[in-house]
Amino acid sequence: MVPKSSPTASSTGKPLISEKAERFTESVIRDMTRQAHLYGAINLAQGFPDFPAPKEIKRAAQEAIAADINQYAITWGAKSLRQAITVKMKEWQGLRIDPEAEITVCCGSTEAMIASLLAITNAGDEIVVFEPFYENYGPDAILSGARPRFVTLHPPAKPEGEWCFDERELRAAFGPHTKAIILNTPNNPTGKVFTRAELEFVRDLCLEFGALAITDEIYEHILYDEAEHISIATLDGMRERTITINGMSKTYSVTGWRVGWAVASPALTSAIRKVHDFLTVGAPAPLQEAGATALSLPHTYYDALAAAYRARRDRLLPALRQAGFKTFVPSGAYYIMADIDEFGFADDVSFAQHLVKEIGVASVPGSSFYSRPELGAHQVRFAFCKTDATLDEAARRLLRLKKT
Ligand SMILES: Cc1ncc(COP(=O)(O)O)c(C=O)c1O
Repeated sequence: MVPKSSPTASSTGKPLISEKAERFTESVIRDMTRQAHLYGAINLAQGFPDFPAPKEIKRAAQEAIAADINQYAITWGAKSLRQAITVKMKEWQGLRIDPEAEITVCCGSTEAMIASLLAITNAGDEIVVFEPFYENYGPDAILSGARPRFVTLHPPAKPEGEWCFDERELRAAFGPHTKAIILNTPNNPTGKVFTRAELEFVRDLCLEFGALAITDEIYEHILYDEAEHISIATLDGMRERTITINGMSKTYSVTGWRVGWAVASPALTSAIRKVHDFLTVGAPAPLQEAGATALSLPHTYYDALAAAYRARRDRLLPALRQAGFKTFVPSGAYYIMADIDEFGFADDVSFAQHLVKEIGVASVPGSSFYSRPELGAHQVRFAFCKTDATLDEAARRLLRLKKT
């Protein structure tokens, strides 16, 4: 946080802060984590697990360090990890990727997204973004000089229904300046998993307007009920126009390792690699080696991951309902959006403040996921990537809401 007394202009009146940096705030999600520490609250705000990462992956990282893989990796990624990404994408998506020309390993999918946007956008280009959206996409668009065009995902009327876009609204967001659409499926914060028909509709617009799709698929293995993850790159006509972003953070419970990647055609990849090189040089070398081990885990690992998350979802959902929330049931990812109308607060921010300070549970105010804050003024988001003990303690505290 910049202290209030800190000057924002030089003695000559020249602004010290860029117009771009002035246009967005610090992350609300990360701020809620700091508030959780401050007030001793249970952190259901930020999406990181509070349980251990798999032993075999941690061992692989330790062995890599012991084997002195401690210097810069190849800037676009260690060969072993790129090879493992290729094998996994063939196995799960049926896509043939050239590890030498089509993969850029980055510092998390966060860097993969901004490096991709910086690689493809010129001033004045438009980027279509569904809202509510993962918080980073807004600043990413500003930093890359693109103009975001937001399209609303409308909440379902019933808890089990799906969030959905209006086809006319999506079509209206595309135009001659559309450079790309950002997709995130399974989706944070809504839990929506885009269907094949929806992705085909997006595909048709991309083809009609000559636009790219940048798809953030970091929750691809966290799916519930009958939901099926479909990568838009697998649809006819999209292989060459898609940048597929993924990473280790969520699938292997290692959000602090900062390893992610972008997969795209050789032409797009060579631009992404240049941007990535000058942004960060490379992702942590020993952790990339451990990534190769992680991506080679058997299918049973992914089955167990999805089953464990399903159990956590089904633990938190009834607790939220019992505390008085109207909940939306996620089909994927590890968040629950909840409607707070019942509690009679002025807005989501004052409610989230009450929750963290007085009730002892940190959530994320819904407005931080929207370009128009009023759309999220009745919602907060809870993350359930937590142990049963954490979820149970949160449930116990949330019941206090009934008494306030
Ligand atoms: C949709 C989405 N993309 C990207 C990220 C960040 O991923 P990484 O840790 O790989 O940078 C998150 C983290 O919550 C997320 O929800």
